Amino acid sequence: MSAPNKSYDPVEVETLKPEEIERMRDEALAAFAAADSLDALHEAKVAQTGPTSPLALANREIGALPPHAKAEAGKRVGQARGAVNKALAARQVELEAERDARVLVEEAVDVTLPYDRVPSGARHPLTTMMERVADVFVAMGYEVAEGPEAEAEWFNFDALNFLPDHPARQMQDTFFVQGPKGTDESGSGVVLRTHTSPVQARALLDRELPVYIVCPGRVFRTDELDATHTPVFHQIELLAVDEGLTMADLKGTLDHMVQALFGADMKTRLRPNFFPFTEPSAEMDMLCYVCKGESIGNPDRPCRTCSSEGWIELGGCGMVNPRVLTACGVDPEKYSGFAFGFGIERMLMFRHNVEDMRDMVEGDVRFTRPFGMEI
Ligand code: FA5
Repeated sequence: MSAPNKSYDPVEVETLKPEEIERMRDEALAAFAAADSLDALHEAKVAQTGPTSPLALANREIGALPPHAKAEAGKRVGQARGAVNKALAARQVELEAERDARVLVEEAVDVTLPYDRVPSGARHPLTTMMERVADVFVAMGYEVAEGPEAEAEWFNFDALNFLPDHPARQMQDTFFVQGPKGTDESGSGVVLRTHTSPVQARALLDRELPVYIVCPGRVFRTDELDATHTPVFHQIELLAVDEGLTMADLKGTLDHMVQALFGADMKTRLRPNFFPFTEPSAEMDMLCYVCKGESIGNPDRPCRTCSSEGWIELGGCGMVNPRVLTACGVDPEKYSGFAFGFGIERMLMFRHNVEDMRDMVEGDVRFTRPFGMEI
């Protein structure tokens, strides 16, 4: 800044000459006009109105003028700065409007265009069905338990009281991963589990009593793939071992399950059967949820779901055989238990009128889509 000088005429101070101030103003206006983006305008703003801009420096010179000259020079610089600020604001508005218009065009989304995205997937109805059944028992305090699919022959058969000559052990029923028991040096076979029941033995060995578990899982048998069989299918198993459990507890639990899954007016019935690991054993049927038994002996009201039998076979059940309890270190004098297991594919078949089990394994989304996008 120049030193105060009483004899100065402002016109003689170079930066405050009218033509010089005009030049600075015009230069600023031109810089704003030339700015073609908000970023460029910001740079021009710093250069033309910032503390080191020509007009700001000229403004500082005013302080060095004699008092009589200050007013005129101040007016001249002030008018120029006012014009510069006005032009800057106007260009800012223009460029913002241009940007907004451009964004509207560039980022427009045509919601009417056909979409070509891969539709999001959903879980297979077998999975959702297994979880729905397991949830009924989890709500009653049961714990979900799992076991390996490649299972020791001992858990799959021996612990469950399958005698060595039981037909299920034969090669035609069982996939052996490591030779049948006794045919190799180790003497211990490994099988793809043929049912979820080995989880019963695992749970009794692993857990403190009482035991209340539900085990959904995949099982394997050397069955041909046809409308009602598949070599790889799913079962869900239930096991309760506690003091004082009876067949009445089993029946009440089965009734509760079918009521939770199929409606409050459902019930089950038991028919004598044989399983090596339960004694007594039973086949468990549930009332046909479509005709509710009204098709029995009633030709006017035939029912396709139960073939007019009024009942649908669901699976096997019974009181845990004391031999199984003993094999798993549980005192059968003190504890008793019940178990049941059934096939999920068969349940899906009658619950949704699926006529061919092969549809469930072929992976065609036209089969799974009607079940919805439940995830
Ligand atoms: C068993 O597997 C016993 N573990 C069930 C059990 C558990 C009884 C606990 C007592 C106590 P079973 O072999 O009957 O039982 O098979 C049970 C169910 O599996 C059958 O009712 C059927 O729904 C289903 N199932 C059997 N074989 C096939 C197959 N090849 N394809 C589809 N489902 C099958």
